[in-house]
Amino acid sequence: MKAFTYELKEGIATLCLDLEDSVVNILSFEVLEILDAKLDELHQTKGIKLLKITSAKEGIFIAGANISEIEGLRDEQEAYELVRKGQRIISKISDLSFPTVAIINGACLGGGLELALACDYRLATENPKTKIGLPEVNLGVLPGFGGTQRLRKLTGLSKALELILGGKILNGKKAEKLGLVDACVPVGYLEFKEKAFIDMILNSPDKILAKRKTGSFMDRYLPSIVFSYARKNVMAKTKGKYPAAISILDLFEKTEGKDLQIGLDLEAKAFSKLAVTDISKNLIGLFYSSEALKKESGTKRKANPILINMINVIGAGVMGAGIVFQFSKLDKLVRMKLRRYEQAGEAMKSVAKVYEGFIKRRRLTKAEVGQKLAHISYTTEFNGFSHCDLALEAIVENTEAKQELYAQLEEIMDEKAIIASNTSSLSISMLSEKMQHPERFIGMHFFNPVPRMPLVEIIAGKKTSAKTIATVVALAKEAGKTPIVVGDCAGFLINRILLPYINEAVRMFEEGADYERIDKIITDFGMPIGPFVLADEVGLDVGYKVAKVLEDAYGDRMKVSNILDRVYHQMNLLGKKAGKGFYIHTAKKREVNDAVKALVFSKRAFDEQEIIDRAMLIMINEAAMCLEEGIVDNAQYLDMAMIMGTGFPPFRGGLLRYADSLGLDSVVISLKALEKNHGLRFKPAKLLVSMAKNKETFYH
Ligand code: NAI
Repeated sequence: MKAFTYELKEGIATLCLDLEDSVVNILSFEVLEILDAKLDELHQTKGIKLLKITSAKEGIFIAGANISEIEGLRDEQEAYELVRKGQRIISKISDLSFPTVAIINGACLGGGLELALACDYRLATENPKTKIGLPEVNLGVLPGFGGTQRLRKLTGLSKALELILGGKILNGKKAEKLGLVDACVPVGYLEFKEKAFIDMILNSPDKILAKRKTGSFMDRYLPSIVFSYARKNVMAKTKGKYPAAISILDLFEKTEGKDLQIGLDLEAKAFSKLAVTDISKNLIGLFYSSEALKKESGTKRKANPILINMINVIGAGVMGAGIVFQFSKLDKLVRMKLRRYEQAGEAMKSVAKVYEGFIKRRRLTKAEVGQKLAHISYTTEFNGFSHCDLALEAIVENTEAKQELYAQLEEIMDEKAIIASNTSSLSISMLSEKMQHPERFIGMHFFNPVPRMPLVEIIAGKKTSAKTIATVVALAKEAGKTPIVVGDCAGFLINRILLPYINEAVRMFEEGADYERIDKIITDFGMPIGPFVLADEVGLDVGYKVAKVLEDAYGDRMKVSNILDRVYHQMNLLGKKAGKGFYIHTAKKREVNDAVKALVFSKRAFDEQEIIDRAMLIMINEAAMCLEEGIVDNAQYLDMAMIMGTGFPPFRGGLLRYADSLGLDSVVISLKALEKNHGLRFKPAKLLVSMAKNKETFYH
């Protein structure tokens, strides 16, 4: 295999990475070995004044290490030896007797950045494809080719921790600001600037070195405070469920002030411990799923998406305002249809609040926010609707109201324009029954809160055209979301799985379990919030309506629990938006609502495992039925949807990966026992029974 080209001209050696038969450069062990031989040769070569490492690939320096090699590691000792070997090869770059420089004009991630860090100097470009970072923590490991040690030396402790713990990816300019690269130049001037930079390395390197920052006062004199602050943040963010983050902190602490060689050895030990864990395998699996989803067009039929520039949003409630934000941020023209002008105030207030957060976190400037807000306009009629490419409906969850609106939209809008609904439970085929052009109608189900939730369920009705599907999938991706095409059934994929879980939690409360304890046990399991807090957040009215649609569609299996009915209908509680639901919500805290607690007299001791089993197995069972019915293409996409739409803990790899970890035969045995005690809603799905019988798993 060829991994690079080499030339030596007027004392400047150029190693141009160009992996044979590949569009990207990847730092596999095979590539490292080829590099190793070349570096040995360079050590011996006379007359080299400087080594330049660059890439021939468009938009890529080195995309990273070979993830499948990390995934394949099963033995800690073997992992340690391999990583030590990689470290030794990369260290040969820093051991060369002449200066070395990495020219980064494209993605420089993971192992790629570790190689660049072993060079004496780094020059990056403003190319939008230049992305620099060490994202290993997202795969449940840490940088193992010296990245932790060399980055700290370059940027100081706090910045290195921030970059590695956050798995942050920076553009060239930001990398320059943080001291990760020595300079960042416009891509059009690269040739000329590179020459000047090399001249400076050869003639006055002090000018470059003087610009380097050596870390803050705290980094140098009070590292213990930096560590304790970072540890507090990590624990708050991960609740101790992600060992890589903790291991990174431990490693930095252990290697503080130590020699590079000791640091490298400890880094390799920490890496190899993490690389063989199930958590790392789960996170790598999710990475593959997300890469596969990025390539999906949403349809197997051939279709070119329409470019969407102007969007109408009808309904200025919680979801409407979120959607308006999302598209205005994308610089699309957004026209809101209100019932009354005063609704504009509320909607714009919530849009502005999200933008304020962006300004505070310095993600956007005030001027940029001003420009984005200028994309939004509103009407109480349908003025301006005829020019729009897409209308997104987010009005009340009521079939007649929605169908009446679609008839009006079909009258006004262009024949080619798409009409999409944000319905959370109503069938798309049913909603489009009376439309003249059902082929241009589709479900585009965002999750609440829209700015934060990455999932968008895309639901095609029986007559939806491939072009319509491809267009909304492309639009959702453009907006930075993860679209997943799901089948047109009541509740679609996520609500169909999630509602039985909330219902089951409420039933346990009905049987005498303390609901605050249920919430605690479920969050300890890894869900971001417990089912009762979730019900309050969604709104008990919204949740109840969806639960009723599911009960009508699936019968006894999804019968709305008695307590949910009483809390919403008799007590008129709406959840967080009205300050009262299962909890009393004030600006500062959340307390159990005694009035709801008093609805149940019985008390029964529930052990923790029973609570987890009932909550999780009811979801696993419904998920298996969804797969059986083809509501989603495969287990990977279902797991991604659960993670992106409900916050199911990524470290568990997804709901069905969790089922695999329990063993499908034991899942079926537990479901049967629950069916005996609690009724047919736990009857194991046919798919689970047959998979258990054949000793199959969702993942191989
Ligand atoms: P909401 O009650 O906050 O807002 C609905 C808005 O639509 C109100 O501003 C209302 O005045 C307006 N509206 C009603 N009929 C209208 C009409 N004919 N023309 C113009 N505006 C009209 O409701 P929310 O929560 O925003 O839900 C909207 C849709 O999104 C529903 O279909 C819901 O099922 C769905 N959804 C809700 C989620 C949630 O968590 N709240 C999550 C995902 C989807």
